[in-house]
Amino acid sequence: ALKVGVLISGRGSNLQALIEACRDPATNAKIVLVLSNKANAGGLARAAEAGIRTAVIDHKAYADRAGFDAELDRQLRAAGVELVCLAGFMRILTDGFIAAWHNRMINIHPSLLPAYRGLDTHARALADGVKLAGCTVHYVRRELDTGPIIVQVAVPVAADDTPDSLAARILTAEHRAYPLALRLVATGRVTVDGERAILDGQAMPGGIMM
Ligand code: GAR
Repeated sequence: ALKVGVLISGRGSNLQALIEACRDPATNAKIVLVLSNKANAGGLARAAEAGIRTAVIDHKAYADRAGFDAELDRQLRAAGVELVCLAGFMRILTDGFIAAWHNRMINIHPSLLPAYRGLDTHARALADGVKLAGCTVHYVRRELDTGPIIVQVAVPVAADDTPDSLAARILTAEHRAYPLALRLVATGRVTVDGERAILDGQAMPGGIMM
């Protein structure tokens, strides 16, 4: 099974979805380490409950991003991590770290990229009056919230949605998208060809409507 390291900053509901997915041998992945930059991240308890090793690397203890990222990198390598999954990890990573994990680091983002990169995705989508929203799992590239797209799940926007109600619907989609993307990557079915992710060697139908 592919050795996975998950980086979190908070609640960890996506981490939980990945933990549950890894109980299925068909996922072909094992989470060997969960790292958080926040000591109070709820996801740490979820990992401990599942018997997964955790560590906190407090970004405030480092003079700069490079120092923080070097410690992340050191701990991931020491644990034998082969794939990094960002799951609600709210720190910008340095170009050097991203290059070191090129095509070996994936992220989940709560929008249908390339729309709504960055923060406050749900409020911005509602302000624009979009009728479909969703989430994206993608390989990580230097530019924030860009990179080859592995899976997207779309959900409808309701007329009376608030940012919170839309976020909750998208979160349900995230919990479906991330385990699927992990399985596709860990089983070798998804690979990167240039700046496109491809499934089974062909242009991929990685879109799901909920
Ligand atoms: C998720 O909605 C995830 O897509 C988002 O943070 C939330 C984490 O929830 N990630 C980002 O906004 C990344 N910029 P979780 O801790 O319950 O998985």
